[in-house]
Amino acid sequence: MKLNRQRGRRTKLQAKGTEYWNVDITKANRGVSVPSVLAIFLALLIGFYLGMTINVYLGAFTQDMQGPAAGAAAAASKYKLFTCPMEDEVHVLYTISGQNKNFLDEFSGSLKSSLLNGPLDCGMTIHIMTDATAYKAIHPRFESIQLSEWVARNQIAIKSYNVENRKSRWQSIFEEATNYQLSKRHTIGAMFRLFAFEVLPPTVKYVVYMDTDTAVLSNLGDLWRHRNATSILQWGDAKCSGFGLDQMRTRDFWKLVKGAHSIGATTKDEIDDQYILRKLSNAHPDLFPYLPEQWNLHRADNFWHWKGDGTRLVKNVPKAAMVHMNGFTEGEGNEHNKFDNASIEYGNVFWAMRYYGGHPWEWTRYMLESQIRNRRNGFQITVEYHIIE
Ligand SMILES: *[C@@H]1O[C@H](CO)[C@@H](O)[C@H](O)[C@H]1NC(C)=O
Ligand SMILES: *[C@@H]1O[C@H](CO)[C@@H](O)[C@H](O)[C@H]1NC(C)=O
Repeated sequence: MKLNRQRGRRTKLQAKGTEYWNVDITKANRGVSVPSVLAIFLALLIGFYLGMTINVYLGAFTQDMQGPAAGAAAAASKYKLFTCPMEDEVHVLYTISGQNKNFLDEFSGSLKSSLLNGPLDCGMTIHIMTDATAYKAIHPRFESIQLSEWVARNQIAIKSYNVENRKSRWQSIFEEATNYQLSKRHTIGAMFRLFAFEVLPPTVKYVVYMDTDTAVLSNLGDLWRHRNATSILQWGDAKCSGFGLDQMRTRDFWKLVKGAHSIGATTKDEIDDQYILRKLSNAHPDLFPYLPEQWNLHRADNFWHWKGDGTRLVKNVPKAAMVHMNGFTEGEGNEHNKFDNASIEYGNVFWAMRYYGGHPWEWTRYMLESQIRNRRNGFQITVEYHIIE
């Protein structure tokens, strides 16, 4: 059942603007001057000539670039507007349980980093799987910043799913596959991600999974290029599951977990998604390829080495695309917001986290608006709330 659904629509930023898709073409048709007609004609002629020449000399190579078509394509490319094929849309996944304020603030910081580093050339959907409590807690947060009225360069959709009704069934699947009884403290809430394939639309094949104490630092569209069709999860060689490209392999996943007998045989007090994914990767390393190193910046697994010396961190990691605080705060319990309380000892990482944590929502909104092409028409962000039966 859907609680509330706001359909996506294109909006006009400028009152007199034309529709996004044909804006430049209309402009071209409107103000055509004699010199520009001549110029286009000349370009076509040259294109035609070049095309024919190439055709003559290269023969078979020109199959998809034939004379007149090449010239026409050159002229048209000036007006070509990027359309975003559905399959190229970037998907991001967060999972949230409960309503701990620090945790929700952390999610806000992370969400800002995703929005500000969303793909520049295609759309993005941010999926948020929540229990009933978190579902109620994030709704007013989105309302208070009027998220559904924002306008961005490409289509951005935010979809939250209340998966409370699935929890007990997922717990049974988990316990059956691992032969491990979940304690009250370590609930299935830490493993929503492993059931995402049941909840997300079937068109979603991959997601960028992010823990809430993770900040994106560069274009997510660049990560998307690294999708590997034979994977289950792509992560850094540190094998930290807090950030990765998850593939929605519906049939395989829990069967594989069941097959990997070592998973159940544990005296470990804590069994969570990280634990399962690491065990599974030991059994099937081929299904867990590594991402480029810029997507592997985890506090616990590598950059703590350079603590206290920010310049060494940057020397060792000249390209940083994301950063993950691994849920730690120095010397404290686990109750801090990692965007406000990343330790200053981590120098550059500290400032990066502070930037996203402290960035006002209003400014984030304006930054997205300012990225719209030609300052013309953008896409209104859509926000959907779903209750999963
Ligand atoms: C995908 O990952 C596998 C290892 O799991 C690797 O052998 C293969 O080369 C990768 N494919 C691409 C296109 O990177
Ligand atoms: C961050 O840490 C400082 C000092 O440790 C503390 O006073 C402050 O309350 C913390 N802030 C948050 C939001 O947790």
